[in-house]
Amino acid sequence: MRSILSILTLSTTLLFANSGKEIFNQKCSPCHQNYIPQSKLLLNYEFDNSDLNLTAPTLVELSFALKDQVGDRKADKESQLMEIENFLNEYINSPDINKTILPQAVIKHFKTMPSMQGQIDEEEIELLAEYMFDYAEKTIIKHSVQRHTYEEALIKAKATNKIILIEGYIPFCRGCMQMDREVLVEEQVKEALDKDFILVKKNVLIEKLPLELKSLGTPSFYFITNDGKKVIDNIQGTGTVNEFLDLLEGIKSNLKKGIFLK
Ligand code: HEC
Repeated sequence: MRSILSILTLSTTLLFANSGKEIFNQKCSPCHQNYIPQSKLLLNYEFDNSDLNLTAPTLVELSFALKDQVGDRKADKESQLMEIENFLNEYINSPDINKTILPQAVIKHFKTMPSMQGQIDEEEIELLAEYMFDYAEKTIIKHSVQRHTYEEALIKAKATNKIILIEGYIPFCRGCMQMDREVLVEEQVKEALDKDFILVKKNVLIEKLPLELKSLGTPSFYFITNDGKKVIDNIQGTGTVNEFLDLLEGIKSNLKKGIFLK
């Protein structure tokens, strides 16, 4: 009995030690929190880190910085992952604020990270790199309203009497990333979208818009009636959380008044 138990304990320890998430939770989480909404972070940094008193930037901030700043983000995932692994290896062993990949507005609130030399081996860093690489993107998707294909949206919009909202984007478009990371993910926006809209994302480089709509450039937002037959309005550009919420209200009011674009 005792030996079975010790085998069980051993195998769970091995299992845990094998996941990037566990390593991060054990060795990095004492300083790095996982996720804080962007609106709260911005306020916190504006007030000199006095709101949240963070010890270090969040994992989402690190993850986006790694993905955007290290290696070639347009290359295949494996090559970029190797570059990220190298960066992490170097930074964790000999942190140097001059090599920072974080924005100046963020980094200026923190002391340089203490070196963790000898506390973490290369295999663990490889697992950390994999975990950190996708973390921010996955977190944003988890906190945002559900995304649909246009075909799904047509069925769902009709059944729920909601407006179809198509977000036109292209990969690596700054404004598109800004809207997804800082606006669509905010709780108020998620609630407003959940209540009255069905979200579709279309890569306008390779996907056609319905109703013979031409892409206005990216990011852009196309609002379509729940029967898929009329365009209520469309708009191109980025905005703040409040501007986006106002836009959603305006669209609902246009629909009520029967004002359409085409
Ligand atoms: C004792 C607190 C502490 C621990 C533990 C810690 N960090 Fe940090 N880390 C910081 C602070 C503070 C910063 C911001 C200052 C800086 O960049 O040096 C930071 C920054 C970073 C950065 C961004 C570096 C840059 O400026 O571009 C990365 C990447 C990072 N940490 C990864 C990790 C990983 C991975 C672990 C776990 C293996 C970890 N950290 C553990 C405090 C910590």
